[in-house]
Amino acid sequence: MFITFEGIEGSGKSSVLDRVQEHLVAQGYDVLRTREPGGSRLGVELRRILLAVDNADLTAEAELFLYLADRAQHVGTVIRPALAAGRVVLCDRYADSTVAYQGYGRGLDPALLHTLNDEAVRGLWPDLTLLFDLPAEQGLRRALTRNLREGTHQTEGRFEAEALAFHETVREGYLTRAALYNKRFRVVDASKPLAAVVAQALEIVGQNLRKRPESAQGPAPRTLEPKP
Ligand code: TYD
Repeated sequence: MFITFEGIEGSGKSSVLDRVQEHLVAQGYDVLRTREPGGSRLGVELRRILLAVDNADLTAEAELFLYLADRAQHVGTVIRPALAAGRVVLCDRYADSTVAYQGYGRGLDPALLHTLNDEAVRGLWPDLTLLFDLPAEQGLRRALTRNLREGTHQTEGRFEAEALAFHETVREGYLTRAALYNKRFRVVDASKPLAAVVAQALEIVGQNLRKRPESAQGPAPRTLEPKP
């Protein structure tokens, strides 16, 4: 079973992921938690390049192909082997991030980006995608508070420096995709307090695991998404 967590900056998805991971491990699932960019050995290097504030001059196209390279390597060396071993894979961001940020956000063609992603991952789309949705203004406020607390603002978070309008466009892009691919997407209201968001996420994940008990043991189904 392959589950991805998506949302704009400050949507709380990584905190929710912590709780979902704990819960599934406690229930006896064999869980692999991973993330993009940076989920493979090569990806760790690509992540540094992609998120460095001094790489602000990367072109949208160069950025796109670095994210796709990160994903192709991640799928080939980490995600597919884990799914083949029957593990539940929880991934913090995946292909929908590229369509939302590089497509809707940066202005590259979302339909083309969907197709390029499909190539990069050879048709491996998630069984379930949780979209943590909230107004960009609220998300950015949360992200800023986190950065000030953790002192990460100078080294990471190139996208957090983008204007509010950019993040609103990314949010709309995500919602458009959630409507287009409504079989695998579930939208969670992330403006609520964390406990409520966690409860909703756990309920959705639980329902999906019960629906597909076989995929907790065998290889995950290969889902070929229709082109938009
Ligand atoms: P990260 O520090 O993981 O932030 P977050 O906690 O918000 O996930 O940074 C990931 C950044 O990379 C985030 O700003 C979104 C961006 N991104 C893309 O633009 N395209 C992609 O395909 C992916 C995977 C991430």
